[in-house]
Amino acid sequence: MTDSDLPLDGAISAFHDREAPAEIRAALAEADKDDILAESYPYDTRMDRKAYEDALTALQVELVKLQATVKATGARIAIVFEGRDAAGKGGTIKRFRDYLNPRGARVVALPKPSDTEAGQWYFQRYAEQLPAAGEIVFFDRSWYNRGVVEHVFGFCTEAQREHFFAQVPDFERMLTSDGIHLFKFWLNVGRAEQLRRFLARERDPLKQWKLSWIDAEGLKRWDAYSAAIAETLARSHTDHAPWTVIRSDDKRRARLAAMRQVLSALDYDRKDHAAVGTPDPRVSGGPGIWN
Ligand code: ADP
Ligand code: AMP
Ligand code: MLT
Repeated sequence: MTDSDLPLDGAISAFHDREAPAEIRAALAEADKDDILAESYPYDTRMDRKAYEDALTALQVELVKLQATVKATGARIAIVFEGRDAAGKGGTIKRFRDYLNPRGARVVALPKPSDTEAGQWYFQRYAEQLPAAGEIVFFDRSWYNRGVVEHVFGFCTEAQREHFFAQVPDFERMLTSDGIHLFKFWLNVGRAEQLRRFLARERDPLKQWKLSWIDAEGLKRWDAYSAAIAETLARSHTDHAPWTVIRSDDKRRARLAAMRQVLSALDYDRKDHAAVGTPDPRVSGGPGIWN
């Protein structure tokens, strides 16, 4: 079955046919929408809206300053957003770009490879999308598809995946040694929160487009995803291109952490260090915080 075989209605009704674990369904039914359900999450409640909006605005001002310096100096920035479906990749990218000049702040969200692309070097279509001088490029999913979703759904062979793991450190070294600032974020959403977001998307006519049969089918494959993610992080976390894992059950804290990570790593004119702060170590860190 391919994407196009299954209409969106089918994907949506598919949620109801899936056996979501009973304890998660029960927790969802009980929970207030502001509860954070994952026991391992370091906070009990979501960040207060006012505190979030104030911090967000201050960081967005810093991003505007960053973009001015990037344009003036011809710097190149590539930011990779990875994570399970509904982890919050698109929403985080949206907040990064809210006040940036879209000419120079591009989103790359490639569809599944065409037949021609499938016959090319795997990294080729991503390489074509890398930033030029003065650009910030946001990858909403990336070459890491081969490590996780393609593996979990059998869209690539084991040999292709091994070849990917062999090449990815060199590929990324070529980018960073050429002067591209590369950030790699893994947004980590818990199982209950993921399901809650799927159900919210299903109900919301503005968000239904975000659901696909992969999301419905992925519910059954949580553990396969977990194993593929752990392996991918372990095999592609390098000194020159490290991963930042961000706990994303609270979208607000996650977005702020990603922005702080980027801003604190780069120099730019009129930087306000107090506004940038540092990423919350309870929310973001190396692959060690993934679970
Ligand atoms: P998204 O969450 O990005 O909106 P999906 O959950 O439908 O989209 O798909 C997840 C990823 O899997 C996407 O990047 C998509 O391009 C990729 N994908 C879907 N089908 C295939 C396929 N047959 N071969 C390779 N990649 C695929
Ligand atoms: P939204 O991001 O607006 O689609 O919100 C998804 C659901 O989570 C809504 O029911 C929100 O009310 C609830 N929610 C409340 N606070 C947060 C938060 N800080 N992060 C994520 N979701 C939140
Ligand atoms: C998400 O992670 O919330 C979504 O899948 C966003 C996206 O991929 O656009």
